[in-house]
Amino acid sequence: MTQTATLTRSMGTPRMASSSAAPLKLSNPSLWKSEGGFLNGKWTSGSGSGSFKVVNPGNGQTLGSLPEMTVEDTKQAVNHAHEALKTWRQTSEYERAAILTKIFQIMTENSEDLAQIITAENGKPLADARGEITYGASYFSWYAGEAIRNYGDVIPSAVKGVQNTTIKQPVGVCAIITPWNFPNAMVTRKLAAALAAGNTVVLKAPSETPYSVLAIAEIARQAGVPDGVINVVVTEKHTPDVGKELCENPLVHKVSFTGSTRVGKILMKQASSTLKKLSFELGGNAPFIVFSDADIEKAIAGVIACKFRQSGQTCVCANRVYVQDEIYDEFSEKLAAAVRKFQVGEGNKEGVTHGPLIHAAAVDKVQSHVDEAVSKGAKVLVGGKKIDIPGYFFEPTVLSDVNDCAINREETFGPLAALYRFKTEEEVIRLANDTEVGLAGYFFTENIARLHRVAAALEVGMVGANTGAISQASIPFGGVQESGFGREGSKYGLQDWQNIKLVAIGGLN
Ligand code: SIN
Repeated sequence: MTQTATLTRSMGTPRMASSSAAPLKLSNPSLWKSEGGFLNGKWTSGSGSGSFKVVNPGNGQTLGSLPEMTVEDTKQAVNHAHEALKTWRQTSEYERAAILTKIFQIMTENSEDLAQIITAENGKPLADARGEITYGASYFSWYAGEAIRNYGDVIPSAVKGVQNTTIKQPVGVCAIITPWNFPNAMVTRKLAAALAAGNTVVLKAPSETPYSVLAIAEIARQAGVPDGVINVVVTEKHTPDVGKELCENPLVHKVSFTGSTRVGKILMKQASSTLKKLSFELGGNAPFIVFSDADIEKAIAGVIACKFRQSGQTCVCANRVYVQDEIYDEFSEKLAAAVRKFQVGEGNKEGVTHGPLIHAAAVDKVQSHVDEAVSKGAKVLVGGKKIDIPGYFFEPTVLSDVNDCAINREETFGPLAALYRFKTEEEVIRLANDTEVGLAGYFFTENIARLHRVAAALEVGMVGANTGAISQASIPFGGVQESGFGREGSKYGLQDWQNIKLVAIGGLN
């Protein structure tokens, strides 16, 4: 292992956020919310007892602690959202677009502080956190634009004297449950569309990265979002019960969840009791195929961007890298050489390119995937072990000659590129599609006919052809099969937060 761990340790006592003082030097300290959740426009510690700690995964130190909110608080949040819906849904698309634009502006003005918060609680390098804020904020500008293009239809009628029209209306109170890997952008992708469509929301913040969610609520408040339109519940201990309440409460009409397929199945069962509208963005197991006619240098840059973004902790990360026989050795050597140059460490340190994993269990999972693959004949080209320093680090790893093992079936969610060898296009399409989760798939080729053929053949919701980076506000983000359903972002994303209503007007002849 030749990469340098550049983590440096702060020797002082960790500062806790049990008071309102921010443990980070923010230009705008009002963005550090340590009181608890946000109900009906007010910061509150809720009705529960106890608190949970938020740990900086880059150094293992406690960043702050927040009160454990409860199912009772969640019911209240839903009631507030239900009340606020009465007026919010009556606002015009232009009014909502103006507020979304304001949120975009405030987020952009405070982007450095918001990035610092992400790096502290999630661990990703500051450059990536800054990129996430740009990406996250872009959903507000995108949906400000989409809100005012909320067109209905006039549909030719089979009956004389009747005009069929459609209007699109908000679904109602929506529950939003987001993960820790993109503490800002996974919230904004849902929230911006939900608000644009005229819904009110209850957000369940991830216990690992709640401060980013609370900062978004504060920005929305500053931008003029009325009380009760956005409510945030924070908890670690009561997460399953709060999720169940959001899925079963009859006043909630939609649940939007990003997370694992396992939890998605639980939430779907719970939500069936009231037949809620659902959008789920669940697990992935992305194939990344490099054909022998690819530009190898571009494919290596693509696999690095795709596989090692956020240290491998994204649902759209490449999980299985298939390389065609003729270029396999050259590709694997060059990839390993590029990965050796990574600088691993705390995200706020100069020069760090790759940060920690979110917690110790994530590190253990990567280790178990490596160990099992090696026991079945894989070779470690670089990395392969956890890094024994405070925080949760794993060496960026490249394995070659990977055979049938857990990586084939499960997301590693860590910095491990598993290389497989293949001979023909037909064979690799079969291998790539041999999974229940079809979120993203990638391939590199310079052959235009193959490009169209393979893009059509991959059973996924999103294809990156000659690119390893597909995410932006304008694209429909989502998967097929057990990766979930619904689309976020793009012109399609708004519809997931709306009901289409027919208005048939008779007596016109
Ligand atoms: C995810 O990991 O689900 C989100 C990744 C992205 O938005 O690019």
